[in-house]
Amino acid sequence: MQSRAPKKPRLPETRVYTASAPGKVILFGEHAVVFGRPAIAVPVTQVRASVTVASAAEGNGLTIVATDVDRILRLCEAPQDDPLAAVARLTLERLGQNEPNAVLSIQSTVPIASGMGSGAAVSAAISRGLAQFLGATLSPDHISSIVFEIERFHHGTPSGIDNTVIAFEHPVFFVPGRQIEVLVPAKSFTLLIADTGLRSTTRAVVEQVRAAWQMDRSRYERLFDRIGTIATTARSAIELGAIQQLGPLMDENHRLLQDLNVSSTDLDRLVDAARGAGAAGAKMSGAGKGGNMIALAHVPDLQRVTRALSDAGATRVLATVVEARQK
Ligand code: PMV
Repeated sequence: MQSRAPKKPRLPETRVYTASAPGKVILFGEHAVVFGRPAIAVPVTQVRASVTVASAAEGNGLTIVATDVDRILRLCEAPQDDPLAAVARLTLERLGQNEPNAVLSIQSTVPIASGMGSGAAVSAAISRGLAQFLGATLSPDHISSIVFEIERFHHGTPSGIDNTVIAFEHPVFFVPGRQIEVLVPAKSFTLLIADTGLRSTTRAVVEQVRAAWQMDRSRYERLFDRIGTIATTARSAIELGAIQQLGPLMDENHRLLQDLNVSSTDLDRLVDAARGAGAAGAKMSGAGKGGNMIALAHVPDLQRVTRALSDAGATRVLATVVEARQK
């Protein structure tokens, strides 16, 4: 008699999906953009938030694992105002789907609270990953609007620039309340991004600017106007490939941010060091009072400027190329 091979038990197939979103830096216009002026931001693809979504056994619901910040939470038990749970809930609501049985794991190399959009990148990656797991696609517009809702948790009154640049993953010229405009650089240029190592809370700095604006509206409106004009001029320079114009515009934007009282001695020291080592221009980037600064450097000067930034105390210096594209 022939012996039959024993039947292997059938395990349910594990489905695994991955998704990610980049960090960002603001090139021109931070703070003034909260008051309706234009701003320019570019994605920074070297730092990313990534998620893996793997199917789990029936009845388990959605578990979110954020190892970087030491958190594990079950969606059904998470408080309403938890930002990680909120982005999952909002995504499910937009997709008209029930909570899946899955484990969503998050990792991020975007530095936290330093002006590189870490919160927005994590939210965008969660939303994308969850949609993929459920067999749906969310357009950059949809991702952007979900992330914007979550940014409100973090920042109170976000302008919308972070969610936009991170969801579209292109340089953007952003004016609050207007259709997004993707910027098409005619020439590539390299930015160095240097971290002061000091964390700062966007919400607190934005509130400080608002309080100062309430005390002296006409002075602050004038400063915002000048910053807005710089962003508009920079936009043309980028689109025409007139990169030599960008350095002086960055320097002027930094001076105006100092006037808004959002820079700091550490940021100023890095800005001075970059300029002293031959950077074409430099400024703080993001909310300020810590976080990162950016410097525009031509290729032959990159190493010297990087060294000068490290010598001046930068805890990390990253180079990113804003690539030229065809119209
Ligand atoms: O520090 P960040 O990357 O969150 O940038 C904040 C930019 C601000 O203009 C200060 C605030 C905003 O919502 O646009």
